[in-house]
Amino acid sequence: MELNEYIGHLKYEFDIPVSRMRKIVREFHSEMKKGLCGRKSSLKMIPTYVDIPTGKEKGSFLALDLGGTNFRVLEVKLKGSGRTIPPKVMKFVLDKKRIAGKGDKLFDFFAGCIEKFIKYDGCRGPKERKLGFTFSFPIKQTGVASGDLVLWTKGFSATGVVGKDVVKLLEDALARKGLDSIKVTALANDTVGTLIARSYQDKDCDVGVIIGTGTNACYREKVSNIKKWPGAATPSGRMIINIEWGNFNKLRRAACDIALDRASKNPGDQILEKMVSGMYMGEIARLVLADMSKRGFLFSGPAKKAIQKKGVLKTQYASEIEADRSTGLSKTASILKELGIKNSTLRDREMVRTVCGIVSSRSARVSASALAAVVTKADPGLLKKHVIAIDGTVYERHPTFAKKMRRALKEIFGKKSSNIKIVLSKDGSGKGAAIIAAIA
Ligand code: GLC
Repeated sequence: MELNEYIGHLKYEFDIPVSRMRKIVREFHSEMKKGLCGRKSSLKMIPTYVDIPTGKEKGSFLALDLGGTNFRVLEVKLKGSGRTIPPKVMKFVLDKKRIAGKGDKLFDFFAGCIEKFIKYDGCRGPKERKLGFTFSFPIKQTGVASGDLVLWTKGFSATGVVGKDVVKLLEDALARKGLDSIKVTALANDTVGTLIARSYQDKDCDVGVIIGTGTNACYREKVSNIKKWPGAATPSGRMIINIEWGNFNKLRRAACDIALDRASKNPGDQILEKMVSGMYMGEIARLVLADMSKRGFLFSGPAKKAIQKKGVLKTQYASEIEADRSTGLSKTASILKELGIKNSTLRDREMVRTVCGIVSSRSARVSASALAAVVTKADPGLLKKHVIAIDGTVYERHPTFAKKMRRALKEIFGKKSSNIKIVLSKDGSGKGAAIIAAIA
């Protein structure tokens, strides 16, 4: 195959024209409906037991916000009337040993971090404190403050947690530290936290999205549409559904997607997430580049070996390369040097940048299609205004992603796309869990 032919094929494999986006919307709707009925579906459609807050919730709450390897403990003060005081925050990082070790040890570590936080905060004592727990993994919720881990995603594999109630695991760990006065009164997914935090101040907000290490969304659904829901209706008649959209699998995959999935910790799962999120975008680009290099289209000498190494091209690097406007792509040259690719030619670098762009375009267009499906589930004609609270490193920091996603929405909806207002809602996930703790 000639290079031109190869690039043509690559573009075809990754291209998502508007007709395909519309097809994704239709299939997404069908999976959503099946998931709501409790039928087999790639979308879990998890009822969260809560709806958006009134904005009048008040008080001081702790939150543990676990999104991935970075997590935070915070204290959130809700003033009522939709306002909060900027929270006190402590950040922590989980190392590989912890995410792949014993579950008990992982939760002991969380409890230890909470202990550190309250010592610093000076609020240790017999006084009961309520804590909202943001746990950003697929949880089968069994109550506002209980739920079992269905499976790990985003590279986590700690043992003894799948199938267990994560709130109980956290409370047991807190008790082992003598912190029984802390009661976990809310369990939330990060998308739910993000939606709740935004809707505390903005009543038009009805969707929460995360596009970061992982990706997912939640939205408000009529309880009467949640056929699998055995309980009573909420006062508003609506409930937030955690879609777990990362697992959507009605997507055409390219050869590198299949290779990436096979080499992952959770083959067969999280197909959309593996095309979209920050944990995988760089690796997809790397797999393409490695294939090109093998075919003799790219790199020479030791560079050929360096690009074969799994994980060398982090999404952050791919983002910086896509943003590179320096003469001779010198910034790209120095990034590649860091990866062990010392002798790239300008043509190599241009090719690398093109591939990074192809990968991020597909990611943005798949995300836009999924978002279009979520918004039109409740409002097929897109007649109302919808505020989408969004967070995550890819949406926030990638140089072209947000723009490409907006453009794709415009292709799908035309002028009506102005009814979709996407607002970056930073750090809402923890705050949202605290608000749920207040509702509960
Ligand atoms: C993964 C998790 C999901 C979370 C998302 C974003 O997809 O399964 O629960 O919301 O990452 O962090």
